This record gives sequence, C-alpha cells and structure tokens, in this order.
Amino acid sequence: MEKHISVLLNETISSLNLKENSIVVDATLGYGGHSSNILERIKKGYLFAFDQDSEAIRHSTDRLKNIGTNFTIIKSNFVNLKEELQKRNIDKVDAILFDLGVSSPQLDEKERGFSYHEDAPLDMRMDQDNPLSAKDVINNYDEKDLARIFKDYGEDKFAKKIAGKIVKYRQTKEIETTLELVDIIKNTVPIKYRLEKHPAKQIFQAIRIEVNNELEVLDKALKQALELLNINGRLAVITFHSLEDRIVKQTFKKVSEVDSRVKGLPNIPNEYLPDFKLVNNKAITPSSEELQRNTRSRSSKLRVIERIK
Ligand SMILES: C[S@@+](CC[C@H](N)C(=O)[O-])C[C@H]1O[C@@H](n2cnc3c(N)ncnc32)[C@H](O)[C@@H]1O
Repeated sequence: MEKHISVLLNETISSLNLKENSIVVDATLGYGGHSSNILERIKKGYLFAFDQDSEAIRHSTDRLKNIGTNFTIIKSNFVNLKEELQKRNIDKVDAILFDLGVSSPQLDEKERGFSYHEDAPLDMRMDQDNPLSAKDVINNYDEKDLARIFKDYGEDKFAKKIAGKIVKYRQTKEIETTLELVDIIKNTVPIKYRLEKHPAKQIFQAIRIEVNNELEVLDKALKQALELLNINGRLAVITFHSLEDRIVKQTFKKVSEVDSRVKGLPNIPNEYLPDFKLVNNKAITPSSEELQRNTRSRSSKLRVIERIK
C-alpha cells in the first residue's frame, strides 16, 4: 500500500502547466507522489524537491530515481527556498508546488508524537534536528503563551482553561506523552463538547504549528516563491486548515490586485498593473470520489497563481 495518498493530484499537476523542459520546485516532497508525477512530465527539465524530514527523503529518493536523474533533493526547511536555489545558480523557475502539513506516515508512526489517538512521547517535530519539541512547549511555556497559542493556532474556545490546567498539572509532574496531554484536555472541557469532536484535535494542531513555526515559514516562503517565478510560471499551494489558507489567499490577493490608487481609471499605466493573476477565483477542493477514497483530503484546498509580467 502507498504510504501517503497524494491529495488533489490531477488538479495540481494540470494547474502547474508543465512543459517538457520546465524547471520545477516541489517545496514539500513528502513521499514523492506529486514529485514523481512531475518528473514523468519534465523529461528535459529539472526538479528541485525540498523536505525537512529525513525519513520522507529516504523513501522518495528511490521512488524518483526509478523515473529519472534530472532532480535534486534538498533537505531543508522551505523557508530557505531562495537561498538554497541560489546556491545552485537558479534564480527563476517555471512552477512551484507546496502541499502543506504533515504526511500520513508522520501522522501514523506513533513515535513522531503527532497523533492524539496513540500514546507516544510528545514530539511533533517535522524536522528531527529541530531543537524545539512539543514536550518543551507544553512543559516550559508560561500560561499566557500557551493560551495564546491554543487560541490563535487552534481556535479552541477552551484555550485559557486548558492552559491553566496544564500549568497546574505540571507543578506535580512533567507532561511526557501524548495521551497524558489528551487526558488533561478531556478533563478540562465539558462532556457535551467531548461528544461533538475529539477535544484534543485543535490543541494538537496548535502545538504542531508552534513547534514547526508553520505559519511564519509559510508566509516567508510564499513571498520568495512569487519572486522566483518566470513569466507564465505558476505557483500552486494545497492547504489543510483555515489559518494556512488565509495566508495563501491574502498573499495571492495582494499581488494580483490593481493598485488601489489607480483602480477604476480608464487607462491604467502598465507599471500599476499587477504582476500576477489568479488562475482560479475560488479554491479548488477534492471531488466526491476523492473524498470517499481518501478521508484525509477532506479539508484540502488548492489555490494557483500565475506571473503575467
Ligand atoms: C502533505 S506532505 C507532502 C506529500 C507529497 N506531496 C506526496 O504526494 O507524497 C507534506 C511534507 O512537507 C514537509 N514539510 C512541511 N513543512 C515543511 C517546511 N517548512 N519545510 C520543508 N518541508 C516541509 C513535511 O515534512 C511533509 O513530508
């Protein structure tokens, strides 16, 4: 069985407008589903694929080698996109893809500590070299910071209460495992809420975002990706929750709008016209067939933008 089922695969690949000689960046290689599809289509082009997870890289290297040799895998956070490409004398590319979040193996291998269903040490680092783990966040952050993270990154309505309970609990004992944390959360939220959805879902999302600094690196990397695009080049981003999607949507909106100072004028000078256009006005979401086949595609959204000048 495939380790990770790629989300919105056909929609993404066709939106990238690939040519045989395209230079392409996959910022989130993962298990190589999107990348192998890309490599099949760019026989005379080149693929640069980034991931910060050495496990994912180990697996995908062989998968890509079976297709061609015209690729380089870069073990780095995609926040270093521009710098890593510049080191390789690349300053413009034709297509860039981000398929954000975690891969299925990251979620399923319990020792990575992402799952709230299985007991494991609190970890949640996508990059095994990252010094900050979920255990550090939960045991060392003060109550105010925990509450802020749970509210801002988890949009959890019991953020303050849960932060308070965690701080009280850790006065007697360090919080070490995922299920220890799940129990604290379960004992804090009302029973009615526990029946609606898993009460740890939003809190785990929040901790994951904090540990991997996900929103800040996304914002920085998107700006670099836009700068890297050639004319007619496309950037496609798949997100899995509203916080990520909001960043993509706002970034794309800003660069594809006519400058407000000249909006509505009959003849707008070229320098005031936007450098980018949205390829689709609305985000693309999975078909009902995909939703049935892969429940993890449920919250995914694809947005695509093209450089026009
Ligand atoms: C959803 S998976 C990608 C799956 C892939 N498209 C496929 O079809 O197999 C996301 C991957 O991006 C990686 N990732 C997430 N954030 C990253 C970042 N800031 N820098 C580098 N890699 C990142 C994760 O480690 C994970 O392997």
